[in-house]
Amino acid sequence: MKKILVTRKLLEENNKRITSIFDVKLNTSDTLYNPEEILKLSEGCDGILSFTTTPFNRDMIMKLPESIKIISNYAVGYGNIDVVAAKERGIVVTNTPEVLTDATADISILLLLGASRRAYEGRKDAEKEKWLWSTDYLIGKQMTGKKLGILGMGRIGRAVAKRARAFDMEIHYHNRNQLDSSLEEGAIYHKDIKELFKNSEFLSINCPGSKDTENLINEETIQYFPDGAVIANAARGEVIDDEAMIKAMQSGKIFALGLDVYRGEPKINKKYLELNNLFLLPHLGSATTRTRIAMGDRAIDNLEAFLNKNQNPKDQVN
Ligand code: DGY
Repeated sequence: MKKILVTRKLLEENNKRITSIFDVKLNTSDTLYNPEEILKLSEGCDGILSFTTTPFNRDMIMKLPESIKIISNYAVGYGNIDVVAAKERGIVVTNTPEVLTDATADISILLLLGASRRAYEGRKDAEKEKWLWSTDYLIGKQMTGKKLGILGMGRIGRAVAKRARAFDMEIHYHNRNQLDSSLEEGAIYHKDIKELFKNSEFLSINCPGSKDTENLINEETIQYFPDGAVIANAARGEVIDDEAMIKAMQSGKIFALGLDVYRGEPKINKKYLELNNLFLLPHLGSATTRTRIAMGDRAIDNLEAFLNKNQNPKDQVN
């Protein structure tokens, strides 16, 4: 049996399956291993099932035992892994696309609604029992019929668009390349990101985290948005320049922000916490039981194809 190191806890359904196929070092206590522990534990293993919380930078990849041939990441994003270094070392890297599309798109909509309808302030007032229904109490912004920009029209972005159509929103998007019209379904493409932002009364960020997308929302680009825009980020924290965003939220240029992801999470820029126009979640994009089981299955499928069936894994990214 091939040997696998699993760096964080898996759900029981996934534990059952992986232990029936591989000789596995599980992490049932969910300890956050440091790099030295990962290197030690991976000795004698053929593959690693890793998570977004397990960083594999170049140095780490170069130090991995020769026996490691695959890192199967339990996430659609793989910014935690230096995939170029892995390729140089001949290590295959895989991710888990498709299975978390719906759950993450739901969270994008929740962020847009939570931010635009002032859910954070509402919750605080309701808890204190210090509010009185009134015609102009906690007035928010309504999504119906508005322009929604989608930054990153991959599977998740398209699933957000599908949900937004139910709000009669006009969909605009930016991607490196324009999609086929069958995938666009009437959404309007903007090659130039400034044009997307100009057309974003609401913006949903659904692009991958990478050097190309880091700080795409910054002091300069925020100025392109219509005044009082609402932004939601369910992708990666690094896409937003936090200082610039905080200033824009203080001035009202940005009416409200919904965040599920953070630069250096779980840390958060403390200035955000002084703002009422912020709706926060702790990286819950894929957090439903069926999605998490499906992610585990997909990560195990990739290990099984590569190590046991001698096939190219379906989700190889390098
Ligand atoms: C992903 O899959 O990249 C998510 O952020 C993990 O929940």
